Amino acid sequence: MRAALWPDANVDELRLEVARYFVAHGEPLLPYCVFVAEADCKIVGMLELSLRPYADGCDSSPVPFVEAWYVAPEARRQGIGGALVRAAEQSAIAEGYTEMASDALLENTISERAHAALGFEEVERAIRFRKTLKR
Ligand SMILES: CC(C)(COP(=O)(O)OP(=O)(O)OC[C@H]1O[C@@H](n2cnc3c(N)ncnc32)[C@H](O)[C@@H]1OP(=O)(O)O)[C@@H](O)C(=O)NCCC(=O)NCCS
Repeated sequence: MRAALWPDANVDELRLEVARYFVAHGEPLLPYCVFVAEADCKIVGMLELSLRPYADGCDSSPVPFVEAWYVAPEARRQGIGGALVRAAEQSAIAEGYTEMASDALLENTISERAHAALGFEEVERAIRFRKTLKR
């Protein structure tokens, strides 16, 4: 599911991150909680929640942040994505957090609609830049 969500990422690195989660979860920059949805003994959806020190539009810190959110194509539009978000919210509320943040690529209109339907408000649109630094 992580490879389907991030098709440009290196699959071995994605696997390594999962392995690290199980040996060192709770460390900064790793998801602090992963939620999965199961149907007929198969995992059909997942949501990875991290704690970011800062999230655009949020007043609190750290902020539970939806790093990954994916439902298998055949299982979509049945409320599974929403159930994953609600489970993440309940867990964050129980831990005392008051806000949750997330993001989506500008062209991902389905994600945009799903976030809006689940109560997220849009706070900003951004262009991200990078540059290779040369000596
Ligand atoms: C985004 C995603 C996780 C939503 O999962 P889902 O299980 O389909 O979500 P739900 O069934 O709970 O839908 C919740 C609401 O979102 C909106 N929504 C979801 N899919 C939609 C679509 N294709 N078109 C329009 N609205 C949609 C609807 O309002 C829906 O409520 P409704 O079905 O009662 O109308 C899923 O589409 C997905 O995995 N997409 C590919 C990966 C991705 O883009 N992830 C987000 C990265 S930021």
